[in-house]
Amino acid sequence: MNNIFYTGQEVDFISFIESKKYESICVLVDAKTNGFCLPILKNVFPSFENVSSIVMPDGEVNKSIEIVQLIWSEMLANSISRNSLIINLGGGVLTDMGGFAASTFKRGVDFLNIPTTLLAMVDASAGGKTGINFGGVKNCIGSFQTSIATYINPIFLNTLSSRQLLNGTVEMIKHALLKSDVAWDAVKNYSLHEFMSIDKIKQSIAIKQFIVEQDFNDNGIRQSLNVGHTIGHAIESYSYQTNTPLLHGEAIILGLIHEQLIAESILNTDSKIRKELIDVKERLFANINFTYTLNNILPYLLQDKKNSSTINMSLLASIANCKIQTVVSIDELKKSFINL
Ligand code: GLY
Repeated sequence: MNNIFYTGQEVDFISFIESKKYESICVLVDAKTNGFCLPILKNVFPSFENVSSIVMPDGEVNKSIEIVQLIWSEMLANSISRNSLIINLGGGVLTDMGGFAASTFKRGVDFLNIPTTLLAMVDASAGGKTGINFGGVKNCIGSFQTSIATYINPIFLNTLSSRQLLNGTVEMIKHALLKSDVAWDAVKNYSLHEFMSIDKIKQSIAIKQFIVEQDFNDNGIRQSLNVGHTIGHAIESYSYQTNTPLLHGEAIILGLIHEQLIAESILNTDSKIRKELIDVKERLFANINFTYTLNNILPYLLQDKKNSSTINMSLLASIANCKIQTVVSIDELKKSFINL
């Protein structure tokens, strides 16, 4: 696993980087983090004042091979060598893409992640998944490549809208569901302010790390992190075709609720979990009014990288008991829409 440094450990973080004796350091930013977060980074770490930067366009639509080519071209122009360091400063799209571009450039350049969104802090920053979307499929091309370090500082969260902040809470909700009744009982009542605190962020990352350490290559228990994501990703992809595209977390809270209905039918899961998730959705995501049909999401479910001809899902049988690769028939899926 990579080294995670938290706010308060700045001296250790800089010593760690200096110990690597890099020839050059370059920061990858997007249009937003260039304006809002790079000045904060330079303020926290004055030694980064003169580092070069590469600016890529922001947003999920730019998580593409064309933008990776742009990053590679800029790396060439900045004379990045195998003894350079790339610092990915941004949200999950940027850290996934920066990790992919760095790990493939000249057969691998070290990179580290400084996530600037809550979502990236609790999810993309740990676990070594890099990648881009391709052929309409999310994260279709990518690699497992651990960053040399991650630095987490909630100061960057002050640059985000409340919609973007809420977007990150859903992975924390998911981690609590996978951890224990105690964790879920606490998290289901958190205010947005609590979700943003360094202690809660640390606890959430620790849950993810515990799972990833057991199954880095995603062949077993790590797939429990996909709970809510089979339906959630399909809803997210479909929403891009509408006038009301959803953020990842907004789609995943809908996916978590929908998948619980299926779990109730297939695994006899207690409906209490779904009802509590609906309460959380109504409290934190009262403005989401997104509807979808089976026909809307089925094409995405069938092309999801986790599925071949059958639809496999990671479903919660109970809190902290996730059944990975549960086969869900189309009939079962249809039935879930009747009760939605
Ligand atoms: N976001 C799921 C994983 O890292 O496996």
